[in-house]
Amino acid sequence: MEQKSLETIMSRRSIRSYTEKPLNDSIYEHLLRAAMAAPSAHNQQPWEFVIIDDRKLLDGIPEFHPYSKMLTGAPAAILVCARSKDLKSEDFWPQDCAAATQNILLAATALGLGSVWLGVYPKEALMKGLRDLLGLPGDIIPFSLVSLGYPEKAKEPSERYDPARVHKNGW
Ligand SMILES: Cc1cc2nc3c(=O)[nH]c(=O)nc-3n(C[C@H](O)[C@H](O)[C@H](O)COP(=O)(O)O)c2cc1C
Repeated sequence: MEQKSLETIMSRRSIRSYTEKPLNDSIYEHLLRAAMAAPSAHNQQPWEFVIIDDRKLLDGIPEFHPYSKMLTGAPAAILVCARSKDLKSEDFWPQDCAAATQNILLAATALGLGSVWLGVYPKEALMKGLRDLLGLPGDIIPFSLVSLGYPEKAKEPSERYDPARVHKNGW
């Protein structure tokens, strides 16, 4: 039973080439419902999301983000951001946004989409590039980008379980 229930988690891979099939509003809503279902410190839910499906904007990102070339062939991306003002826990927002990002990746896998997590925070140049490109307000911190699209071809799951990394009741 465990194998079956973990299928989405174990089959998620970074998919960097996509068909031209566009995503639709219902897909975005499913992905963002999953994102907002993530746990957060003090349940502060610091996240905000920017859906990007404008070709010029997607093509503009690799001009300042060196590892984002796949966006030129992606129909869409979602930028996960944090509100930096009035947080209950100022230290934990990156973990909250990381949990939301992972939920988007898992929801994408479950819906038959390919996705990649593109790191943004804490790289200043990448944060500035996205702030300028998307006109983000000053109190909004761009955290991660998720490239999205229907996979051009499937990838095999990657088996990484390593019992040597597991410690019990101490090191
Ligand atoms: C914080 C973070 C930043 C990442 N940044 C990038 C990136 O900028 N470009 C990219 O192509 N992949 C990026 N990745 C994806 C990793 O390269 C990928 O997850 C890793 O190679 C394992 O492959 P898998 O996702 O297929 O399991 C990032 C992943 C994480 C968690």
